[in-house]
Amino acid sequence: MKKYKSVKKKREQMRKIQIIAVIVVALIFIISVIILLIRKFDLTEDSDSSNLLVEPVNAGKNESTTKESSISETEAETTTITTFDTIISETQPVIETPVVTIDDEPKEPTFINGVLIVNKSYKLPKDYNPGSLDETVVNAFYQMQEDAKAEGLNIWIASGFRSYEDQDRIYNKYVAREGQEVADTFSARPGYSEHQTGLAFDLNTIDDSFADTREGTWVAENAHKYGFIIRYPKGKESITGYKYEPWHLRYVGTMLATELYNSGLTLEEYFNIKSVYKSN
Ligand code: DAL
Ligand code: ZN
Repeated sequence: MKKYKSVKKKREQMRKIQIIAVIVVALIFIISVIILLIRKFDLTEDSDSSNLLVEPVNAGKNESTTKESSISETEAETTTITTFDTIISETQPVIETPVVTIDDEPKEPTFINGVLIVNKSYKLPKDYNPGSLDETVVNAFYQMQEDAKAEGLNIWIASGFRSYEDQDRIYNKYVAREGQEVADTFSARPGYSEHQTGLAFDLNTIDDSFADTREGTWVAENAHKYGFIIRYPKGKESITGYKYEPWHLRYVGTMLATELYNSGLTLEEYFNIKSVYKSN
């Protein structure tokens, strides 16, 4: 009997040890699983932040790169230039595109966030020839003209679309008369004029005095409502590359025109691009 009791006691002890061992193993397993889950969660967060290739920025504010930003300029350019139909949002990255050399004959025009860019750094192909002013631009102008007329003002288009060849003739006429250095301050070289886009035109008298006429003042205050900007503003000569031209309007759509009007930024500042000829 005594022997039976001691065997029973031993068995109970063994069972207790087995239960404790099972509990310990289970606890180790649960703790391991928890540690693994925590590690996985941490890694996911890390990879999310490393996927932020470009820090979202406000367009034109020159803050497009951060230390964490790992995107190359080339990648970013592809992102911005190919989005033809994109309306600019404040969160889109704005990256400077490369300067086109004067000897280069680009095959395609340059678009940044859907906006056709033409200045001393961005040339149009020689055969880029819409043949006339864009229909949307003409309609916007007619609306502006009508509203100006209602206020007793008379505005008209003095110079609209100009082909590459037209610009070649005009520019070289100025070069012959004033020399290249002076001509470059107010006349675009062929391929570099916004008039070739069909999205720009000159109003009334192509003369500084236009700014002080009632028409000139009204246009400066109201053109953005119709989608136009005064492309070469006063005080921004070193940025646009051209002298003040109160008569030269460029169509960019009402959204962007209003943003530029309110901010006082030129297209160059807004997109953080340059306007300089690569060579003379
Ligand atoms: N006057 C402007 C810059 C042009 O020639 O296109
Ligand atoms: Zn013009």
